[in-house]
Amino acid sequence: MVFNENSKLGELLANEVAIAVLEKHLPGISTNPMASMGKALTLKQLAAMPQANMPQDLINGIVADLAGIEAQTVQPTTGESSPLSVSEESVAKDKTVPEDAVAIVTGAGSGIGRAASLKLSQAGFKIVVVDFNSATGEETLRLVHGQGGEGIFVQADVSKNEDVERYVKTAVNSYGRIDAFLNNAGVLQKFSLLEDIELAEFDRIIGVNVRGVFLGLKHVLQVMNKQGFGSIINTASTAGIRAEHSMAAYTASKHAVIGLTKSAAIEYVRKGVRVNAVCPGGVDTALTQAVPAMMQESNYMPEEFPNMRIGRFAEPAELAEMIVFLASGKSSYMTGSIVTVDGGLTL
Ligand SMILES: NC(=O)c1ccc[n+]([C@@H]2O[C@H](COP(=O)([O-])OP(=O)(O)OC[C@H]3O[C@@H](n4cnc5c(N)ncnc54)[C@H](O)[C@@H]3O)[C@@H](O)[C@H]2O)c1
Repeated sequence: MVFNENSKLGELLANEVAIAVLEKHLPGISTNPMASMGKALTLKQLAAMPQANMPQDLINGIVADLAGIEAQTVQPTTGESSPLSVSEESVAKDKTVPEDAVAIVTGAGSGIGRAASLKLSQAGFKIVVVDFNSATGEETLRLVHGQGGEGIFVQADVSKNEDVERYVKTAVNSYGRIDAFLNNAGVLQKFSLLEDIELAEFDRIIGVNVRGVFLGLKHVLQVMNKQGFGSIINTASTAGIRAEHSMAAYTASKHAVIGLTKSAAIEYVRKGVRVNAVCPGGVDTALTQAVPAMMQESNYMPEEFPNMRIGRFAEPAELAEMIVFLASGKSSYMTGSIVTVDGGLTL
């Protein structure tokens, strides 16, 4: 493979010699977490985006230095291989998780929801896998079964009341109880200035991220209140406690998730039900992997990106560790907590 202006930034960052060339022209780029957001863009496309701050003459210099370099892929550094990585065995059967414990996970077909389903299953929960997407939801269930766990899949759109009622009823009819609920399904908005957000886009984000989380809380709390026990974890975001540039609808939706978390926590604190929220920063999932294509499609790039100070995206499993902790009795004194798992993003 010969590198040229049509080479993608991600291809260059996977090649030792190309990294040296990039570093010569853009010191620090290989360790800058923001570079991974532009991995799917070619040098030519980056040159055409003023916000990328990579003008054509800079790209010309890089391309000239790249001439004739043979592609030789190196292993990218991921959370799994870093000293901070999370071992797959680290969540053994948890003694604070009752026999026959059941967890519902929405958005379980991908990313954080799938990783949490697998770790909750390892910790002893039966998993009610809920997703809009049947193919990916069924695949998560296969993975749960593959590691010796138990569960069922329910296809549902979390923004529809009848679908939410159905997944909650299915859980109760199948297993008779709900110990933990990861209220996690969510969608990212198309980047744009607030004045350019289309109404349909605003409604789509609020529909899934707020209405979906509200409906999940409403129907699961009815069950948990009767039982007198349960732990709910809502997936918010660092965008729930600060503003993300060019994401006003998403930011508003995640602030609402935190409002719902605190409201539920205060109302059910004496009823045996705990309600907490996790706030991921940047996690390597389908949601963030779609960002470069979104920016390319709209030819718009935000003026600011969040600073992942730890220097990389999180692995979904690193969120799942916190989710299992919040689902289990180990977090028995925590309710209404807004827990950031963000690599220092909100510092
Ligand atoms: N990835 C990140 O960097 C990040 C950061 C902060 C917060 N979050 C939040 O974490 C949660 C999970 O995100 P992820 O990164 O794992 O994303 P993902 O896209 O990998 O997974 C989301 C899952 O939700 C499902 N889903 C979407 N809309 C649905 C609907 N209406 N009904 C049912 N299922 C639906 C999708 O099919 C998908 O399987 C979201 O709430 C997201 O906002 C993610």
